[in-house]
Amino acid sequence: MALINWNDSLSVDVKEIDLQHRKLIDMINELNDAMKTGKGKDVLRTIVNGLISYTATHFKKEEQYFEKFGYPDTANHKKEHVGFVKKVTDFKDGFEKGNLPLSVEVMNFLSDWLKNHIKGTDKKYSKFFNEKGLK
Ligand code: FEO
Repeated sequence: MALINWNDSLSVDVKEIDLQHRKLIDMINELNDAMKTGKGKDVLRTIVNGLISYTATHFKKEEQYFEKFGYPDTANHKKEHVGFVKKVTDFKDGFEKGNLPLSVEVMNFLSDWLKNHIKGTDKKYSKFFNEKGLK
């Protein structure tokens, strides 16, 4: 069963960004399935690396739009992005060193963070972006 399911409450009303969020959700679900079905460390590492890399791509895209349109909440929003990257990087380091196995708690952290960030922080830019013609 999927850990997170996409639904309209997660839409930020910008097509390109919704697609990126859906891809992040798919990747978290894939990681969760791999953990639950007992996949080996190499498989988990590949998925984690993919998630880290795509998260960076996604944050960069949002931040490019912030800069392009002069989004007023840029500083706060970027701070959340930086905090998440640090958490995930710490988690990956622990995983590589073998002292932090992938767990239900880690998966819940990832999925809760993403849901809360999209609903609470990303959605704040919907109206602003839409008014700039980004839909
Ligand atoms: Fe969609 Fe601010 O991350």
